[in-house]
Amino acid sequence: MNIGKNKATPNEDAASDYRACLAKLYPYGDLFVVNISSPNTPDLRALQHGDELRDLLAAVKEEMEIQAAAHGELPKPILVKLAPDNDEEQLSYMAQAILESGISGIIATNTTIGRDGLSHANKSETGGLSGRPLTQRSTEVIRSLYRMTDGRLPIVGSGGIFTARDAYDKIRAGASLVEVYTSLIYKGPGVVKEIAAGLKRLLKQDGFNRITQAVGADHRR
Ligand SMILES: Cc1cc2nc3c(=O)[nH]c(=O)nc-3n(C[C@H](O)[C@H](O)[C@H](O)COP(=O)(O)O)c2cc1C
Repeated sequence: MNIGKNKATPNEDAASDYRACLAKLYPYGDLFVVNISSPNTPDLRALQHGDELRDLLAAVKEEMEIQAAAHGELPKPILVKLAPDNDEEQLSYMAQAILESGISGIIATNTTIGRDGLSHANKSETGGLSGRPLTQRSTEVIRSLYRMTDGRLPIVGSGGIFTARDAYDKIRAGASLVEVYTSLIYKGPGVVKEIAAGLKRLLKQDGFNRITQAVGADHRR
């Protein structure tokens, strides 16, 4: 379950939207993602920074504990989803805040507001850009986050994965899992099988028996 705040809710009240969303959806999700990286909700991405991030993660974690207790269960995992448009200093702050918050993991990344290297006539349209232009940038964010968190948190890699190589690059940079979205549109559901088969070959080439051995491998060269 991926949750965000309403467009009309000011950031100072954001935590109550996330809490309300989690409270309603709790029984239906296996894990919850705090989305603070959609470019399509004005000012949402400001929640990635400073005390706003710490306060929001603490509130969502507390709400998770309340809901879990009310249902007689252990708390379900909470992940946070970040934008690719953060510099190293911002990422380092986020990594620290996320580690200290005690949440379970990170999804890196959401879509980008960047338009570098594009020549298409629609390049100046507003909104989040997904797919190929995001591939390398999101891999670099994964690499930084893995280093900054010493590989202590699972990272879900997302952004422009079309081939097994794209997925493998993210895994070697530090992703434990990967997500595809845009490539499903261009290549259809067969892309999952294609990537899985290709990953097997790439692992073998590098002498690995299983994915976990490849997670973060670039950092151990
Ligand atoms: C049309 C569209 C809608 C999306 N909606 C959401 C959303 O509601 N929540 C979210 O966290 N990410 C959302 N995303 C981001 C995707 O989940 C994904 O992280 C991003 O597109 C990068 O992966 P891709 O290049 O494989 O598409 C959306 C992306 C697209 C293209």
